[in-house]
Amino acid sequence: MKNDIKKISVSKEKIEEILTKLGAQITKDYEGREPMFIGLLKGCNPFMVDLLKHVDLYCTLDYMDVSSYAGMKSTGNVRINHDLSTNVEGKDIIVVDDILDTGRTLNAVVQLLKARGAKSVSLCVLLDKPEGRVAPIEANYVGDLVPNEFVVGYGLDYNEKYRNLPYIGVLKEEVYSK
Ligand code: PRP
Repeated sequence: MKNDIKKISVSKEKIEEILTKLGAQITKDYEGREPMFIGLLKGCNPFMVDLLKHVDLYCTLDYMDVSSYAGMKSTGNVRINHDLSTNVEGKDIIVVDDILDTGRTLNAVVQLLKARGAKSVSLCVLLDKPEGRVAPIEANYVGDLVPNEFVVGYGLDYNEKYRNLPYIGVLKEEVYSK
């Protein structure tokens, strides 16, 4: 699997630095509160699990699996494949995902959580691809910026594979043309 990678974009060491930095920021910003972390499947893994080890707060966690569509308006509905098991009403929510690209998915999720009565909703993403943005949304916590190229690993997939790479990398061209 690792032979399919052309170059490493975000190394294991860099990911560890990001986890430490974001964990400390969230710990400081949410001092005295008990936020609920909501991971968006499947890309939020392993980022969410590793990030939480760096958060020194009482907190809860839950997961959603959602899909957005290329033609969907930025404020449109999102299809929920798997919903939360807990109520978000009155809660301080931190949505965790691997990448913010067009922003359609996270924008729709934020609208949904607010409509369900969340007290506050902030976004934490490992990667931000600002060139891809279509929906009017930015993340509160960003690990690293990536250019507009297709990256895999550490949760990000190509045809559902490569999520288990311990770093973020760019695939060799021949992998796409197989
Ligand atoms: C990916 C990623 C984000 C979303 C980002 O999920 O995990 O949720 O796309 O793209 P956007 O900013 O253009 O909406 P995907 O739907 O591929 O599912 P996955 O998490 O199962 O890989």
